[in-house]
Amino acid sequence: MQDHVSPGDHVGTTSASPDSGLLVVSATPFNAETRLAAQRGVATPTAAFFVRNHFAVPRIDPRAWRLAIEGAVQRPAVLTYEQLKALPSRTLLVTLECAGNGRSAMRPQVEGEPWQYGAVSTAAWTGVPLRAVLLAAGLSPAVQEVVCEGADRGQVAEHERVAAAHGPLAFARSLPLAKALHPDTLLAYAMNGDELPAAHGFPVRLIVPGWYGMASVKWVTRLTASTQPFMGYFQRDRYVLEPPQPGERQALALTNIAVRSVLVDPSDGAVLPCGDHCLRGFAWSGSAQVARVEVSVDGGATWEPAQFMGDPERYAWRPWEYRWRAVAPTRVTLCSRAIDAAANEQPTMRSRPSGSSSRSDMGLPFAW
Ligand code: MTE
Repeated sequence: MQDHVSPGDHVGTTSASPDSGLLVVSATPFNAETRLAAQRGVATPTAAFFVRNHFAVPRIDPRAWRLAIEGAVQRPAVLTYEQLKALPSRTLLVTLECAGNGRSAMRPQVEGEPWQYGAVSTAAWTGVPLRAVLLAAGLSPAVQEVVCEGADRGQVAEHERVAAAHGPLAFARSLPLAKALHPDTLLAYAMNGDELPAAHGFPVRLIVPGWYGMASVKWVTRLTASTQPFMGYFQRDRYVLEPPQPGERQALALTNIAVRSVLVDPSDGAVLPCGDHCLRGFAWSGSAQVARVEVSVDGGATWEPAQFMGDPERYAWRPWEYRWRAVAPTRVTLCSRAIDAAANEQPTMRSRPSGSSSRSDMGLPFAW
């Protein structure tokens, strides 16, 4: 039904050329970030959308693709691509951010893909609410979670013993029932109006608005309604905040995207003439609408409000601007911070807060 493509094939698929907007972070598996400074408006062009893969990109024939709905359901089902696309659909503008975004700026350094700030992008996703297929299958009252499994598989160093016993590991994650049944959680088959590219989950992927990107499982082939918490590797060992001291507290699973803003223009280290400038950036939050962005042109001593551009969208970042006059030649530190409608504030420091340590997939959202 499917085989795997090499990064070279993938590059052909998403054209990761210098013009595409992608900066390659690793070739195998293929991981690449968007060039935020080139981003205009809200939606990221598909070819410039960041890519995060743990394994090789599976190439799937849509005629052979099947979605199995099984586990604690009254009517297990198998859907074809055409059957899924015939169901009522919705289109939502959603920002996806990898939990490791910004990791390379963290001090002390944290293991994992060395993302700068471009592991975030926004697209219009079209798909069928996950709840429609789950409710049609008849969930048992005892269901707690829905496990979503992708078609990609591979070896994970920490998991060699398991792989030896059970074969390669699949990328699988679970959603708590409330999030799985939320009308905005989609089984998406289109991105910015076209079918999904292979690298972004063709033929069908999950889109979990407001949550870090790991929840939006690509190349979905199986949904399992479960009465138990899922203990899979990508659920329990990755994408968790570890307790400060071993044994102190339980590791915390990542869910909502933390409030964050980025300044994309001018770029770091830019030399600007004296005169008027327009500082430009984006702000987003998974928990609530971004309410305010503030800019400091004196290294964080004082802050002024920035102007939002365009209308708010519940799950998409908001572009912002700030007019600034550079009066005399000097070195300045420009920074931004965002606050959301739930009063979550972007921290403004370079290092992690004490008491939190981060596991390999986390790049905490600091303003600097
Ligand atoms: N789904 C599968 N099957 N395999 C993966 O490696 N990566 C996850 C998620 N879904 C992944 C996956 C992670 S960590 C992120 S951040 C998003 O996909 C990235 O989506 P994108 O590549 O479309 O930007």
